[in-house]
Amino acid sequence: MATIIGGVATSHTPTIGFAYDEDKQDDGAWTPIFEAFEPVRDWFGRQKPDAIVYIFNDHVTSFFFDHYSAFTLGIGNEYAVADEGGGARALPVVPGNPELAQHIAVSLVTDEFDMSFFQDKPLDHGFFSPMSVLLDHADGTWPTTIVPLQVGVLQFPIPTAARCYKLGKALRRAIESYPDDIRVAVVATGGLSHQVHGERAGFNNQNWDHQFLDAIVRSPAALAEMTHAEYATLGGMEGAEVIMWLIMRGALSEDVRQVHSSFYLPSMTGIATLVLEDEAVELPAAIHQRHRERMAQQLKGIDELPGTYPFDLATSVRAYRLNKYLHAMVDPAHRARFLSEPEASFAEAGLTEIERDLVRRRDWLGLIHYGVIFFMLEKLAAVIGVSNLDVYAAMRGESLDDFLKTRNTQVIYSVAGSHAR
Ligand code: FE2
Repeated sequence: MATIIGGVATSHTPTIGFAYDEDKQDDGAWTPIFEAFEPVRDWFGRQKPDAIVYIFNDHVTSFFFDHYSAFTLGIGNEYAVADEGGGARALPVVPGNPELAQHIAVSLVTDEFDMSFFQDKPLDHGFFSPMSVLLDHADGTWPTTIVPLQVGVLQFPIPTAARCYKLGKALRRAIESYPDDIRVAVVATGGLSHQVHGERAGFNNQNWDHQFLDAIVRSPAALAEMTHAEYATLGGMEGAEVIMWLIMRGALSEDVRQVHSSFYLPSMTGIATLVLEDEAVELPAAIHQRHRERMAQQLKGIDELPGTYPFDLATSVRAYRLNKYLHAMVDPAHRARFLSEPEASFAEAGLTEIERDLVRRRDWLGLIHYGVIFFMLEKLAAVIGVSNLDVYAAMRGESLDDFLKTRNTQVIYSVAGSHAR
């Protein structure tokens, strides 16, 4: 069974990444930043977690207002560094942990946290600014795997502090019920006091920062009672992102051992680091077994339905490249390229030979078996002028005429619109 070894909280101001990239270890005002992170990096070096659940917020880099979510869990194989305007930082791609992410996902939804899920998105300074100084990557690789959890804290309404704390408790159950014997750390980033917009830009409150650092260790439940306005009043509007620390704190035992804490205010944002070790008493494994059974309940019996393939996160990750290629059929330029030069289009998308062959042969059932969701099939069908009914008949291994005889009327349709050939 997985064990939570502890929690780490840290600011994620771009200052941290800048200091690292510009090699400012011995440069007066910057030195305390390195001194703050060194004990944390040593802790990770000693503890060697197999995975880190890494809670952060994106700064409208990869998660824009066309679809803004509260809690978004990363389920992908890897995560690159985002370009925030001046080119991406030169850091290695971070390995994901799809298996652990899928378990956490199902567990959280079972506990009625209806999460969003992402893959194939680069992560911004909310993630990488502290990441680059928390974990040793001198050899060009990261020493652990990551399950990122992105929290939408920028477009109100956002989750309450209380909801974040409750999510942390559910996260604990999710991690502890993971059947493999792995060691997991929980990291949260954000804060401390700062405001970066409006006439109040530059606001800090060091007294509150120290109070918060104390309370997150000893009185997290009280912090969970605070409103966003109370956080903004005390710690600045953007500083209110510290509610993400409550997810980490909720995932730890009530009693924790503080092994490191630091605070330094060089410019705009109070830079804090905190390391807490878990002090939980081990409880019977049957608790976790019962939870896993509850997790399996919703899809129990589904594998007995013939010809039925629920589209789950494992499928989504496994068949992502081909689903992405077919989804792009909503773009007129992509489908024109596919129609005029299919082989070049396949190559540009990096499709494997198996994937190319499935599309070339219009192997509708083969595509389903491979992990393509039906709604990509109907897009492809619309592009090549094939009706939905043809696709249904082909999947059933019947002629169109035979299949139509099983319907009350013999109508033919597809999702093709005004561009249909
Ligand atoms: Fe932030």
